[in-house]
Amino acid sequence: MIKLAIFASGAGSNAAKIIEHFKNSSTVVIDLIVSNKKEAGVWGIAAANQIDTLYINRESFIESDACVKQLQARSIDFIVLAGFLWKVPESLIHAYPGKIINIHPALLPKYGGKGMYGMHVHEAVIAAGEKESGITIHYVDAHYDEGDIIFQAKCTIEPTDTPASLAAKIHVLEHAHFPVVIESLLSGFSM
Ligand code: GAR
Repeated sequence: MIKLAIFASGAGSNAAKIIEHFKNSSTVVIDLIVSNKKEAGVWGIAAANQIDTLYINRESFIESDACVKQLQARSIDFIVLAGFLWKVPESLIHAYPGKIINIHPALLPKYGGKGMYGMHVHEAVIAAGEKESGITIHYVDAHYDEGDIIFQAKCTIEPTDTPASLAAKIHVLEHAHFPVVIESLLSGFSM
């Protein structure tokens, strides 16, 4: 079994879709949900699916290798960032080279980088008068939103769209594609 850890800071709708997708998988198991936010919706999703959780703070995630050690102790093979808002420290990237991916709610390299997350992204895209936006699934390196791109999908932006309506369109794309892209990545994976 390939053991996945999902990192999420927010509502966790992507985490929920990934969990649902792999529920009956004979090759992939969602072994752990990790979050840095005590009030994150993802805790409830983990409980409902009987998945173990790990709360991280700056000390365990950034200032020490405590989180890395816990992931290794559980034999986690692959890490998926699904709405996780902290920069990944080099210690984790070195422990999981080419084995951490992220989803970003825009067409990178545009609208990425520090501070570009969630609604901030959609507000910037609408304010710039873009005619399209989309999602990017990419490998994680030591810089925000700069790792190699694995997959992108686009949606059109109508003149009547708002940041909220764009966010809804983006979530539809994310939910449709993220679990399938993870599955196809892992199908070519040797641990
Ligand atoms: C998603 O739209 C994801 O792309 C975005 O946060 C949202 C989380 O939604 N991630 C980023 O902005 C990372 N820079 P969810 O909690 O419902 O899955």
